[in-house]
Amino acid sequence: MLTGLGPDNGHMTTMLQADRRAASRAGAKDYQRAVELLGSGRVQAGANLMGRVAQETEDDGLRSQALFGLAEVLEQLGDLDRAYATWHGLAHKPVALRNKFDTLARRRVMALFEKHALRLSPPDFPPRLQLEITNRCNLRCVMCTRNQMDRGLGDMAFETLRRAADEWCVETGCVMALYFLGEPLLHKELERLIAYLAKAGDRAPGSATFGIQTNGMLMTRERSRALIEAGLREVSISLDGLEGDLEVIRPGASYPIIETNIHDLIDVAAEMGVDDLVVNITKLSEDFGSEETRRFLDRWQGKVSNVLLSGITKVEGNSYMSADRKIEYVMPTVHPRRRAYCRHGNRLLVYWNGDFGFCCGDVNGKLPLGNIHDRTVRDVWNSPEIQRIRDKVLAADYKDLTACQTCPNSYG
Ligand SMILES: C[S@@+](CC[C@H](N)C(=O)[O-])C[C@H]1O[C@@H](n2cnc3c(N)ncnc32)[C@H](O)[C@@H]1O
Repeated sequence: MLTGLGPDNGHMTTMLQADRRAASRAGAKDYQRAVELLGSGRVQAGANLMGRVAQETEDDGLRSQALFGLAEVLEQLGDLDRAYATWHGLAHKPVALRNKFDTLARRRVMALFEKHALRLSPPDFPPRLQLEITNRCNLRCVMCTRNQMDRGLGDMAFETLRRAADEWCVETGCVMALYFLGEPLLHKELERLIAYLAKAGDRAPGSATFGIQTNGMLMTRERSRALIEAGLREVSISLDGLEGDLEVIRPGASYPIIETNIHDLIDVAAEMGVDDLVVNITKLSEDFGSEETRRFLDRWQGKVSNVLLSGITKVEGNSYMSADRKIEYVMPTVHPRRRAYCRHGNRLLVYWNGDFGFCCGDVNGKLPLGNIHDRTVRDVWNSPEIQRIRDKVLAADYKDLTACQTCPNSYG
C-alpha cells in the first residue's frame, strides 16, 4: 500500500528537458537531435536515432541515458515488454558501475514488477519486503485472512528485523512494509525497530522506503510522537468504512477513536515540525463506484496524503461488506473452478519467526523457504525453490503448492 512508486507519466518530459543540458558530451549531439525529434512528435525517427546513440557511443553514461529514454518511448507506445527488458538490463549492472540512469532504471523495474509480477521477469531483489512484525491482533475483522491462520502467535525479534534491514537498505527500489497478519502497534519495541530502519535507510539516501499499515486504534498522540521521533514517515491506516460500517467489518474497532487518532497524528507531526509524513487511508471496497465508496472518498480526500482503494480477497468461510453495505458470507464453492495463473509473486515475506514466505495468501507459511537466520533475502529470492514456484504458478499447476490450492487468487 505504500505510495509514490507507480510509473510516473510526466517523467519523460522532465527527463528529456534535463537531458538537453547534457548535450555537450561526445556523441551527445545525436542524442540531443533524437530528443528534439521526439519532442516534435517524430517518434519513430527519434527512437531510431536514440537507439543508434545507445549502440554507437563509447560513453557509458550516454548509453544508459539513451537506453533509458528509449525505454520510456517504448513504454509510452504501449510496448511494456521491450521497455521493461531495456530497463532490466540497466538495472542489473554491479552497484559500483551504476550511473544515475541505471539507478532510475532500477526503480522502474522494481515498480513495474511490483505492479505486474510474474508477467515480467523478476529483478534480482524483491521490490517489496513484507515483515510480519507481529501476528497478534486487537481486532477480529470479518474478511481478514488471519481468520484462516493456525500458526503460533509471536512478535518479531529485533535481530530478525536487523537482518532484513541490512540487506534492504542497500537495494534501490525495494520498499519495506512492516505488517502482515497482525497489528504492528502491538509490538512493544516498534519504535526501536523503526529507529533502526530509519538509520539504515540513511545509508542509502533517497532510495530506502518503509512504512507501516495499522488499524489505528492504538495510535494515540503519545504513540504518534514516539513513532515520528523514531523516524517513521509513512503510515497507512486501514479504515475500510465510515461510522457504523467500520464497527461491523472490523469488530473491536471504533470509528470515532480512529478518526481522532488520524487527526492527532497529523497534528503531532505539525507540532514537531515534520512536514514529510505521509498519512494514507486505505479502504477495501467491493465496488469502487458505489455510493458507499463515494461517501467515504468525499469524507477523507484532501484530509490525508492519499485515500487508496483495493479489492477484497474472498476467502471461503469469511464475510465481507457488499457494495450495498450488507454482510455477505463467502460460501464454499460447489462447482469446479477454472485454475488461473495468479498475479501475485511480487514480494518476499518474512513471518514474525524469521521464516520466509512468497505470497500473502500463504497465511500459514506452507511454502517452505527457510529462515532469515540461515539464508539471505537475495539468496531466497533467486533460489531454485522460488523459481520452481514461479514456474508452477505461471503454468497454473498448483497441485504441489499446498498454500495455493484453496486460495481464491489461483482460480479464474
Ligand atoms: C491484515 S491487516 C494487518 C495490518 C493492520 N492490523 C491493519 O488492520 O491494517 C493488513 C491489510 O490487509 C487488508 N485485508 C484484510 N483482509 C483482506 C481481504 N480479505 N482482502 C484484501 N485485503 C484484506 C486490511 O484491510 C489491511 O489493510
